Amino acid sequence: MKISVIGTGYVGLVTGTCLAETGNEVVCVDINEQKVQKMRNGEVPIYEPHLDVLFDRNIKAGRLIFSTSLKEGLEHGEVIFLALPTPEDEDGSADLSYVLGVAENIGNIITDYKVIVGKSTVPVGTAEKVREAISKNAKSTFDVVSNPEFLREGFAVDDFLKPERIVIGSSSQRATELMEKLYKPFVRSGNPIIVMDEKSAELTKYAANAFLATKITFMNEIANYCEKVGADVDKVRIGMGTDSRIGKRFLFPGIGYGGSCFPKDVKALHKSGKDSQYEFKILDSVIKVNDNQKIILFPKIKNYFNNDLQNKTFAIWGLAFKPETDDIREAPSLYLIDKLLTEGANIKAFDPEAMDNVARKYQGKIQFSKTMYDVLENADALIICTEWSIFRTPDFNKIKYSLRKNVIFDGRNLYDISDVEKEDISYFSIGRKD
Ligand code: UGA
Repeated sequence: MKISVIGTGYVGLVTGTCLAETGNEVVCVDINEQKVQKMRNGEVPIYEPHLDVLFDRNIKAGRLIFSTSLKEGLEHGEVIFLALPTPEDEDGSADLSYVLGVAENIGNIITDYKVIVGKSTVPVGTAEKVREAISKNAKSTFDVVSNPEFLREGFAVDDFLKPERIVIGSSSQRATELMEKLYKPFVRSGNPIIVMDEKSAELTKYAANAFLATKITFMNEIANYCEKVGADVDKVRIGMGTDSRIGKRFLFPGIGYGGSCFPKDVKALHKSGKDSQYEFKILDSVIKVNDNQKIILFPKIKNYFNNDLQNKTFAIWGLAFKPETDDIREAPSLYLIDKLLTEGANIKAFDPEAMDNVARKYQGKIQFSKTMYDVLENADALIICTEWSIFRTPDFNKIKYSLRKNVIFDGRNLYDISDVEKEDISYFSIGRKD
């Protein structure tokens, strides 16, 4: 099939590349000329495991083409994916100006039947608005479909190639059939393609993300309570999670959820509720609890250093909002760093992928090291913010001999308490005995 993808952010790029992998001819459009030029030369603009291999293969095979021309994209594809940003507006709602801006142009350009597919996470009713915007100028027939994505950063290629489900919001038989044909190769295992109306599809995406954020937040509250009563959240987590109605996943407490999706989507759903005179009380609490969770290690650190962090140096392991990504959007590490800097502390940091992004944001205020052990030299304490695998089995001797004080503040519960304590290191984690 001939496919076009408008917008080559993380969703658009993964969608375009993976659709080319099953033999479709894909044109990806982006307004950023420099980026398009780089992609034409085979450069993947984001860090996403396995994407480079697929990218290279499909460019070489001529199935994956990049363009700055919306016209070229719209003329090429029978199915046009809109993978445009929907950033958070000042009031927490999703800003639809990119999506609707492109939609208005579509009507002017298309001359034969097209399926316009909304891939971005958008409030309920957006497909309708897109349809209206295209209709203003449309000279040919078209359908608008909502097809939310459930990709996780770091696993996006795998999630796209082997999805647990595909959700298609469509009220047109013709469009539904085209979408089913397109996705069939990805659900050979028997996982479902679920067809529903556009509004339900749009809400499914928000509901899934908000539910997962709520699940994590609930566990974070249980962890905070465990500390008050001397229970161990890891034991509680396993005890709870083995009930198949609850499930083991997304029950890991820590320093809060971050990233480009959960924080934005929870706020957007909360705001959409308000706009429809519905108050999501549960989401209101999730937002507040998560804001506090991001800095939950701060009082423990301050207390350990007798309220004086002036000129103390902290080594940080992990800056990305989660492992396997260089993404630092809404990363809990940044909130903690800001608090520490405000108190006059110095920061040295190591992350396998995200250091360049953090360096750009902090402009010389943070020191970086090439290895996880270099960063410990002359630091007063170690703080762990992201659970990269490389941090899971450290050389505790090296940690001990490099740090000024034998203390670890672990925001991701990476170690067994007994393993750290037998090394004579003080260990503070989340929801467990300190
Ligand atoms: C999330 C969803 O998992 C995807 O299904 C969805 O498609 C995507 O948002 C999106 O809307 O685009 P992602 O943001 O890549 O994916 O990351 P997750 O792996 O879901 O993690 C989100 C945050 O929750 C991270 O900060 C992570 O550290 C935190 N988390 C996750 C926990 O604190 N505890 C857990 O048990 C799980």
